Amino acid sequence: MDPQKPAIQRIAVIRGDGIGQEVIPQAVKAIQAAGAAVELTEFDWGADRYLRDGITVPPEGFAMLARDFDAILIGAFGDPRVKTNIHAKEILLGLRFKMDLYANLRPVRLLDEALCPLKGVEPSDLDLVVLRENTEGVYTDAGGVFKPGTPDEIATQEDINTRKGVERIIRYAFEYCREHHKLDGSPRSKVLMCDKSNAMTHAGGLWQRVFKEVSAEYPQITAQHMYVDALCMHMVRDPRQFDVIVTNNMFGDIITDLAAGLQGGLGMAASGNIHPGKTSMFEPVHGSAPPIAGKNLANPFGAILAAAMMLRHMGLTAEADRIEAAVLEAVRQKKTTQDIGGPLGTREAGEWVADRVAGEKER
Ligand code: NAI
Ligand code: MG
Repeated sequence: MDPQKPAIQRIAVIRGDGIGQEVIPQAVKAIQAAGAAVELTEFDWGADRYLRDGITVPPEGFAMLARDFDAILIGAFGDPRVKTNIHAKEILLGLRFKMDLYANLRPVRLLDEALCPLKGVEPSDLDLVVLRENTEGVYTDAGGVFKPGTPDEIATQEDINTRKGVERIIRYAFEYCREHHKLDGSPRSKVLMCDKSNAMTHAGGLWQRVFKEVSAEYPQITAQHMYVDALCMHMVRDPRQFDVIVTNNMFGDIITDLAAGLQGGLGMAASGNIHPGKTSMFEPVHGSAPPIAGKNLANPFGAILAAAMMLRHMGLTAEADRIEAAVLEAVRQKKTTQDIGGPLGTREAGEWVADRVAGEKER
C-alpha cells in the first residue's frame, strides 16, 4: 500500500440523471462487495436538484471535491426537462474544466467475441486505449452568433488548442504507453496521434509539431499518425492495429463512441478523467439515455467498469481486478442486460456481479 495514502480513501458519488440513477447504485454495490477500504458520500447534483432549487453546483463545490475526496464517481447528466442542458454543462464540463482533469482515458476492450459486431474479432484483437484531451478544443464554448435568426446569421465555434494543453496530453499518452501492459501481459508499444491537420492546418500544425518533439523523448515507443477520417475506416476494418491513440477533445468524443460499438455498445464503455496527483473523476461513457431511463433496462457494466478503473487509479488493484473478473464472467455466462444479449435487468445484472465479487473475496 502507498504510505502516502490514508487507510480509508474517500469517494464522492454523483448519480446524476436518467440511467445514471440506476447504474451508479450497481457500481457502488460492486465496490462494497469488493470490501474496498473506501468511504462513499453521495451528492444529489443533477436535473432534479436544479429544477427544485436552481442550483447546479453548490458554491465552492469543485473546491470541496478537490479538498475532501480522493476520487469521484459519476453517472450521467442530461434531462429532457432542462432544455438548455445548463446543469449538465456546469456539472460535467465544470468537473473536467475547473478541476483541470485533462486526460480522458477510455480503454476499449472486447470482453467476449459475441459482443463485437465485426466478423472474426477476438478479445485479444481489441485492447486499445484512447486518450482524449479533455479541457480545450471546441468544448470551451468560445465563439458566438451575430445577427441571429436573420438570413445573414453568422455562428462561430472556436477550436482552442494551447501549447501546454496539447503537450501534456501527448506526454500523458507516451507515459501511459510506457507504464501499461495489454490484458494478455504484452507491453504496449505504439502511440498514434489522430488529427485532421490536412484541413485544420493551424491547430493540426501545433499537434504535429508537439507530437514530433515529445515522441523523440520516447525512442522505444513507435510514434504513428492518422487523419481522423481514415482512422474511423481502419477502426472498423482492422482494430487489431491500434494500441494507444491520442487526440483532441472532439475527435476523442467521436472515435470512442465508434470504439464503444466494437466492444458491445455504449453500455460497456468506461472512462476516467484524470489529472495525475489531483482528485480525478470516473464515469461510464454513455449519457443519461432518457428513452430507457427508469425501466431497469440500462446496462450497468460501463458504470461498474468505471468503478473498477477508479479503484485501480486509487491503488486498490486487487479490488479492481476482482470487479473486472466478475464482469467478464457475467458476460461469458450471459448474466447481462438485453442490450448485450442477456435476460437480466439493471439491478439483477448488478447483483450478479456484486455476488460474484463477494464470493471471489471469500475464496
Ligand atoms: P446516450 O448515451 O444517453 O444514449 C444513446 C442510446 O444508447 C440510448 O438511447 C440507449 O439506446 C443506448 N444506451 C446508452 N447507454 C446505455 C446503457 N447503459 N445500457 C443500454 N443502452 C444504453 O446518448 P444520447 O441519447 O445522445 O444522450 C442522452 C442524454 O445524455 C443527452 O441529454 C446528452 O446530452 C446526455 N449525455 C451525457 C453524457 C454524460 O453525462 N457524460 C454523455 C453523453 C450524452
Ligand atoms: Mg460522447
